[in-house]
Amino acid sequence: MKDNPLILGIETSCDETSAAVLRGNELLSNVISSQIDVHRRFGGVVPEIASRNHLTAILPVIDEALKNAGADKTELDAIGVTYGAGLVGALLVGVSAAKALAYSLGIPLYAVNHIEAHIAANYLSEPALEPPFLAVVASGGHTGVARIDGLNDYTMISSTTDDAIGEAFDKVARAVGLPYPGGPEIDRRAKQGKPSIAFIDRSGKKHNGNELSYSGLKTAVINYLHNLEQRGEQSNIDDICASFQKTAVDMLVDSAMYTVKKTGIKTVVAAGGVSANSYLRERLKIEGVRNGLDVYFPPMSLCTDNAAMIAVRARDMIKEGIAPAALDLNAVSYLKLKSEV
Ligand code: KG4
Ligand code: ZN
Repeated sequence: MKDNPLILGIETSCDETSAAVLRGNELLSNVISSQIDVHRRFGGVVPEIASRNHLTAILPVIDEALKNAGADKTELDAIGVTYGAGLVGALLVGVSAAKALAYSLGIPLYAVNHIEAHIAANYLSEPALEPPFLAVVASGGHTGVARIDGLNDYTMISSTTDDAIGEAFDKVARAVGLPYPGGPEIDRRAKQGKPSIAFIDRSGKKHNGNELSYSGLKTAVINYLHNLEQRGEQSNIDDICASFQKTAVDMLVDSAMYTVKKTGIKTVVAAGGVSANSYLRERLKIEGVRNGLDVYFPPMSLCTDNAAMIAVRARDMIKEGIAPAALDLNAVSYLKLKSEV
């Protein structure tokens, strides 16, 4: 493989169909076709509808990514595709398209882990970033703190025992009547509210680094809403959003700061859709100053699902000599990072 291969990234794990073209650290294009409007009326992603929409979008999105990059498909040196984790029917659309293209062009195909790619997105915005570093992983399906010790060495050192943080944002938003996806809605409403409601008692709670759970917090918000309803009282959605958001983010950032102290690692990045959250970004910045850390976030466009991060991850797999995938590559709905917990 040449030094700066031209890589096509493909991402279809949930409700974004995306294709991107990357050379070295230069992102030549990143096309994202979102299905949010399609799923909004159902209050969440409907897997079968997601697969059908990926099917109609995938080829035009790849064509547009190549066109925006000014590249012809015959110039591509490799393809990277998300093969997990995600919705299996949605993943299969990207995996099948990637396999067909790789086979017809006679170029290698790299099977990319979606969570590793979310973390790797930081290499694009921060080219000087080098392992070892910690990643605060905050997406719709995964939550925790990961340790990155090499270009191919990703270990989860704490993770939620139940719901993911993005899932909790989406479910709480739904409970208070905000549309899907709930994360950005809660972020917006929280700015107008006060974090005055103690949904769970976190006083004196010592984080042992593994202690992350979002199901209890989500249930506490729902119980709070039921109690108000029974008493015939009005709820203040802004305050509920501010209080939920603060607790959800504090739990994760506290866990990350515990890990900073335990490992002595002084570089922290954020990864996943919830890393777009303004309070998460603000708290990490404050902790960075307080503890002398280098803190990095991907730009907003690279926080939620995109194919640029998939191409970056494939680039690093190529750099490290990882073997390409065979053409019987399958989609994997549950795929984790190597784990210490
Ligand atoms: O990483 P992502 O795009 O997809 C998965 O890999 O799961 O994350 C999607 C999640 C959704 O739960 C969405 O509500 C959340 O990211 N999200 C946010 C914000 N923007 C997106 N959560 C909180 N605040 C935001 N600003
Ligand atoms: Zn994602």
